[in-house]
Amino acid sequence: MIWKTRLTQMMGTKYPVIMGAFIGLGKANFAAPFSEAGGLGIITALNFKTPYHFKKELERMKELTDNPFGINISVLPPQIKGGHHLTEKSRDEYLAYIEVALSEGVNIFTTSAYQATFIGERVHEAGCYWFHKSATINHAISAEKASADAVTIVGLEGTGFKNPLTQTTLVNITMARRLLKTPIIAAGGIGDSRGFLGSIAMGAEAVCFGTAVKVCEESPAALKLKEKWINEDIFTEDYHQKIYHLKLRDRVLPSMAVGHRKKNHSYKGFYRRNYE
Ligand SMILES: Cc1cc2nc3c(=O)[nH]c(=O)nc-3n(C[C@H](O)[C@H](O)[C@H](O)COP(=O)(O)O)c2cc1C
Repeated sequence: MIWKTRLTQMMGTKYPVIMGAFIGLGKANFAAPFSEAGGLGIITALNFKTPYHFKKELERMKELTDNPFGINISVLPPQIKGGHHLTEKSRDEYLAYIEVALSEGVNIFTTSAYQATFIGERVHEAGCYWFHKSATINHAISAEKASADAVTIVGLEGTGFKNPLTQTTLVNITMARRLLKTPIIAAGGIGDSRGFLGSIAMGAEAVCFGTAVKVCEESPAALKLKEKWINEDIFTEDYHQKIYHLKLRDRVLPSMAVGHRKKNHSYKGFYRRNYE
């Protein structure tokens, strides 16, 4: 099947599929097979201590794949202090990572977490695409007003940052299709072809996978952790409390998408079964 949406055209990918940002794991060895399999692999910039280390990783990514790939940078909300390299940064510090990616020929820039218009402006000035990820429709509307080329909206079923106004993926995508003109990327709890097709039917022009790809064969996550995630019972009270709780941002839990994954298939197998 040929998948053609405004997003496959911007990304230059075979499938309307984009890899999530992954703190800790979002490096070339994880992203390159994703791009090779026909989606848009994403290198998470803040996994690299300095723009120099990030540049080296982009060089490595280009050795591993000739297919399109993008980068992510999470702009931390002032009140959040994370681990890894998620320390507070100035605008110039964030922009230093963007300059490196531009110099390496990256064309797709994804931002998340907090206001990133200053990044979008620089990306547009360079003639590249800016996709922003939000957890609410209102933030998605703000991103459209700020001229984002696409908005990813993560539903309550997803993992990562939450907001008191976060809605489910079903509500987000159907409403966003009515309220926005900008192409939408669906995220949150999507783990197989039903979720993918449902998202496209609701009006998304691409789908972003986080949890579902972390448990794939190519993911550098430890096998034990993948097995633990795949075997997570998403219907327990304990899991329910954790996944729908706003404090989820303090730890990384598998999202509702693990309910759809009972094996750690390879990306290629995953794509073949689901989209062809
Ligand atoms: C291990 C892990 C690390 C993540 N790290 C980040 C991150 O650094 N920045 C970000 O914006 N999102 C991050 N996310 C969220 C994903 O990019 C994506 O938005 C989310 O996983 C989509 O929901 P899903 O897991 O239901 O597919 C992470 C997700 C996982 C599973």
